[in-house]
Amino acid sequence: MIPMVNLKVQYEEIQSEIQDRISEIFDSGAFILGPNVMELERRVAEYHNLSYAIGLASGTDALHLALRAAGIGPGDEVITTPFTFFATVEAIHYCGAKAVFVDVEPDTLNMNPAHVEACITPATKALLPVHIFGHPADMDSLTRISEKHGLLMVEDCAQAFGASFKDKRVGAFGTAGCYSFYPSKNFSCYGDGGMVVTDRSEMNDRIRRLRNHGSNRTYVHTETGYNSRLDELQAAVLNVKLRRIDRYNDMRRNVAAQYNRQFSDLPVRLPVEREGCHHVYHQYTLRSDRRDDLSAQLQANGISAVIYYPVPLHLQEALKEYGLGEGAFPVAEKASKEVLSIPMYPELPESDVAYICKTVRSFFGAAPLG
Ligand SMILES: Cc1ncc(COP(=O)(O)O)c(C=O)c1O
Repeated sequence: MIPMVNLKVQYEEIQSEIQDRISEIFDSGAFILGPNVMELERRVAEYHNLSYAIGLASGTDALHLALRAAGIGPGDEVITTPFTFFATVEAIHYCGAKAVFVDVEPDTLNMNPAHVEACITPATKALLPVHIFGHPADMDSLTRISEKHGLLMVEDCAQAFGASFKDKRVGAFGTAGCYSFYPSKNFSCYGDGGMVVTDRSEMNDRIRRLRNHGSNRTYVHTETGYNSRLDELQAAVLNVKLRRIDRYNDMRRNVAAQYNRQFSDLPVRLPVEREGCHHVYHQYTLRSDRRDDLSAQLQANGISAVIYYPVPLHLQEALKEYGLGEGAFPVAEKASKEVLSIPMYPELPESDVAYICKTVRSFFGAAPLG
């Protein structure tokens, strides 16, 4: 079976570097908040041209602690998208705040800025765009709206490490950018991990405290916090991969370019890359009104295919108290019936790409391309 992601091939290339770093950690006995986390925080902040990065236990915690440190609490509203992973809204709920959904753009499937202003109320505190599948949201329009209405901007960059909008990295636009290093993410470790990037020193101080039981001096606690630290072993893996992330993203872009070329004459909707945007193809996601049959055909031919996301958030049982039914966000709902993500990872062999293309083309009755 051709997998969606193959972590083993990448590991084989970087194995000796990772193992050297891991032996050093075991020799030193410093497993929590040691030199690897510090190095990663410094390098990721630099990568974003920002002052601070804070290593955390997961992407969900990154969103939660960023919102909490930004002062989001009960009675507040946070505007976000219904077409994302559930963690985006969980983080809002952890703060006691309410999510306000706006529909997505039909091409990028990112939060549609055209719908945002109509949703702003006196309770609105923040925008929480998600750079879905690795394509940046429209940060010009969203920044303009957040500035006009005095809103915070917390970016969910879990799927978009290295993506940029008009030459500025995602994560660097507003109050904070939040990353997940979950193993299948485009910049990932071998377990759970996450990070917040920010230029605001008060956010940096508060998140550092929150991740460590509300303490920045041993056994002195200024508030009730959490245990949400990125550990040294995961930071070591990320330090090794960070040197290669731009190359990995370029390799993903190369796979996407081949898919785009091979599918351009088929009756499918291809992912877009808008002018001024640098897409990192965390996922390569096609759209077809024959999605389920296409998926079955791919699987029958030994090719993995996954639906991200089959149920938009407003239709999830866990959110039924919002009272939003079918028809509330037609673009997201239609997308959830049409999307299909196919294998995408930097080292996906040429022969597999060719076989996947041939199989997709044959499903639509098209001859293989040369
Ligand atoms: C868009 C989005 N937000 C948040 C998360 C949560 O990250 P984590 O699994 O590291 O908690 C994920 C991934 O799982 C995600 O894809």
